[in-house]
Amino acid sequence: MASPDARVARSAGDVTCQRNGTPLDAGVGENVTRLKGKVAVITGGGSGIGRAIALAFGREEARVAVVGRRRGALDQVVSKLEQAHHEALAVTCDITQEKQSKSAIEEVEREFGPVTVLVNNAGILSVSTIETVSEEEWDQVMATNLKGPFLMSRAVLPSMRRAGGGSIVNIGSVLGLVAMKQRAAYCASKGGVTLLTKAMAIDHAHEKIRVNCICPSIVETELVEELFSDSEQGRKARQDRIGTLPLGRFGRPNDIAELAVFLASDESSWITGTAIPADGGLTAY
Ligand SMILES: NC(=O)c1ccc[n+]([C@@H]2O[C@H](COP(=O)([O-])OP(=O)(O)OC[C@H]3O[C@@H](n4cnc5c(N)ncnc54)[C@H](OP(=O)(O)O)[C@@H]3O)[C@@H](O)[C@H]2O)c1
Repeated sequence: MASPDARVARSAGDVTCQRNGTPLDAGVGENVTRLKGKVAVITGGGSGIGRAIALAFGREEARVAVVGRRRGALDQVVSKLEQAHHEALAVTCDITQEKQSKSAIEEVEREFGPVTVLVNNAGILSVSTIETVSEEEWDQVMATNLKGPFLMSRAVLPSMRRAGGGSIVNIGSVLGLVAMKQRAAYCASKGGVTLLTKAMAIDHAHEKIRVNCICPSIVETELVEELFSDSEQGRKARQDRIGTLPLGRFGRPNDIAELAVFLASDESSWITGTAIPADGGLTAY
């Protein structure tokens, strides 16, 4: 039952309950763009999942900066966003290098103002056991998948403080929750991302900086193309992997992008420190 100080406000087609001026229900029927006013940085935004996130964020009216090493791929995403009349910026940066990560954030802030959303999406795969992985490959996987998010997040914190808060979305993996054969270095790096997410969420909640992690299983991008050759054997391996997913298909980049929009938006303002599987049901077993 509503308390005496609760009041009901009616607006066009919408009912909002308020207690002491605080909305208790999410508004329905409002024509809102979910990321209007946000300034978002997406690492690895030139391809695959990162590209889909950049385009979805643009659609929701964020100003979007895409970060990566290959300028051409970033420029293509920016021009697609600009054709749709969205503000976008390409920033060339190797996220494993502290100086570059800092100057990338500075460049975005100069152009668009303080950064309110960081998506740590850039990552590489390694198909190896601890016996077959070289020391060099191990270091590269750790540098890209774990040190990169650490450096980019550290670089963005001052900007988010100036904005009065923000949302960091890490793209981890289901292999940061459970293991798989031949993925030792990758699992170690993504397991690190899961716990880094929770540690950062606790450390920065008091300054209204939220940190969450999306854990995809297989999503159809360049990164997985190399896993399944275009041969009878490759096609069988592909069908076998699809057979492990209760929903019966691989993910699409947009499946991840829609969850990233939610975590970046104020709709998720009470959610931090989570590692959410977006995995076709794989981890329900
Ligand atoms: N696809 C899947 O099945 C799957 C499943 C679970 C998790 N994930 C995760 O999702 C994320 C995106 O994967 P994806 O499938 O979209 O892969 P992708 O298409 O290969 O994209 C990876 C992106 O990371 C960028 N990148 C790599 N190293 C970088 C570095 N040192 N500095 C800056 N950018 C760098 C690449 O751009 P440049 O080469 O131009 O730098 C590229 O745009 C990764 O973290 C991956 O681990 C993917």
